[in-house]
Parts: sequence; C-alpha cells; structure tokens
Amino acid sequence: MTDIESHGEPAGSAAGAAGDRPQTSGRAGTPHSAAAAETLAAACFLVAAVAAVALGIVYWRGGQTQLEGLLLAVAMGGIGVGIVVWAKRFMPDDEVEEDRHPLVSSDEEIAAFRSDFEHGEQSIVGRRLLIGSLGAALTALGAALLFPIRSLGPRPGRGLKRTPYAAARGRPGGVRLVRADNTPLRPNELAVDGVVTVFPEDHTEAADSPTLVIRTRPSQELQLPADREDWVVSGIIAYSKLCTHVGCPVGLYQAGEALLLCPCHQSTFDVLDGARPVFGPAARPLPQLPIAVDDEGYLIATADFSGPVGPGFWDRDR
Ligand code: FES
Repeated sequence: MTDIESHGEPAGSAAGAAGDRPQTSGRAGTPHSAAAAETLAAACFLVAAVAAVALGIVYWRGGQTQLEGLLLAVAMGGIGVGIVVWAKRFMPDDEVEEDRHPLVSSDEEIAAFRSDFEHGEQSIVGRRLLIGSLGAALTALGAALLFPIRSLGPRPGRGLKRTPYAAARGRPGGVRLVRADNTPLRPNELAVDGVVTVFPEDHTEAADSPTLVIRTRPSQELQLPADREDWVVSGIIAYSKLCTHVGCPVGLYQAGEALLLCPCHQSTFDVLDGARPVFGPAARPLPQLPIAVDDEGYLIATADFSGPVGPGFWDRDR
C-alpha cells in the first residue's frame, strides 16, 4: 500500500482518518494564492465576455474582418486561459496508487469517500465568482456567434424558381424575346443553324434569364415531350443558357449534330431531345422556354421555363 498523498489537509482531519485509502486534493495552496488565482480566472472570463459583446457590436455595425478576428481570438483565448488557471489551481490532479483490496467498503471508507466527493464538489459549486464569470463569457460568445446568421441574407423565396419570363403566363402578348440591346427578334432574322442569346424584354440584365434561341435544320426531327410540341416556332427552339452543372453559359453549338456544349466541363446537351444531357457532369436537361409569335411577328415567351434554371439546389423539385 502506498502512502497517502494529501495537500492542505491537517493531520488527523476527516480525510486523514480514512486510514490507508488514497487521497486526492486540489492545489489551492494558501488562501491568499487561491484567491489570487480565482480572481485571475474570473478576470479572464470577464475579458472574454467583453470581447464577445464587442464582437457582436462590431458585426452589427457592418463588420471589420481583422477586428472581428482579434475579438474572437480574445474571447476564446480568455475562456481558455481562465479554464486552465481554474483547473491548475483548484482541480485535483494528483496521481495515486492503491493496492487491490477486498471489494466491500467499510463504513469508514464510505464516509471518507463521501467526504472526498463533497470536497471535490465544493471545488466547483463553491466558486460562484468563477462560475458566474465563465457563464457570462460563454453566453456572450454564444450570442456573438449567432450573429453571422444575419449574413445569410434575405430568404430567396420563389426567386430561384421564377424568372422575368413568368410574367408571360396569362398575358395575351406574352413576353417578347429581345437581344442584349433590348431589340425584339423576328423568326426570319434567325438563319438555319443560327443561335442568338435573348432575354425577356426590359430585363436584359437579369442573371437568370439568358436564353439560347436556335433554328434547327428542317431535316432535323425534334423529339420533344407531347406537351411541348407547340413550344417551337418553325424549327426555332429556346433553352436556358445556364448550364445545369454549375451555371456556366452554354455557348457552343454543334449544328450538324444539334448539340450544345458547355465550355466549362464539357457537358453536352441534345437540342433535338429537349436538351437532354448526353455527355459530361450535368445531370439535368437545360430548361426549355415555350415560345410563339405575337401579332406583330416577334418572338415571345408564353410562360416561364420548364423548370428552375442553372445548377440544382435543395428544394428545386418542390
Ligand atoms: S458548368 Fe457546364 S459542364 Fe460544368
């Protein structure tokens, strides 16, 4: 049996009366040094709390990356240093050994264990200043870390699923297709194998609206779903220009095979077959735009695209 190690316990105390059982105790040292350590740890926690509050204020007032990083470091460092001081000064960490004994504890051992347990508990619950300051630091830091939720920006709502072409639904004249200079386009201005990028009238800056209008060859037979047969005007068909992989503009048309190529990762779409992807990483067809001709002979969209444009997102199909 090894000797009992005990620090700061008077000889013959309750702990010492436990005979040959192992003992552990904290390293609070003298009351003066213990109070100094407690004050230091509490000061660290309070500094962390102030830094966390300042972090929230800086973020709320518009943010400043370097200052936010510094304040976050102070907040987390203060909590860390405070916990280390607390642990080193007040938490038992002595290494002890004990020979194996009969497993049944005597009444004295049970009493001694209870005494030790309550002594350790007091190391934690008896230090209101430390617990209060640590709680303040963690609460302030937790609140500050919630602020970046605001940086997620406004809810997209249906903005990812609608384009300005949606205004065409139910409107007799639809929405005219225009070039980048906002001039409308007639079918006979598009040669066979020709491709033009168009936009909804008055929305040439809309990032979700670039559309490829393609005139296929008379010899090329379209294989569209039955409900899209009237989405075509004299062999002219329109698809979103935004690749369904990660959104690059699909700009290369291989007229002989009626294939659209995305230059970013070589996704290839079959124009005759509803822009189905036939090669590359894109997994979805390019959304098709239903088109017609208005009373003045210009190309119009009669509704929005057949699906959300561009890359997929979490609730695209809902
Ligand atoms: S963005 Fe078109 S293939 Fe990747």
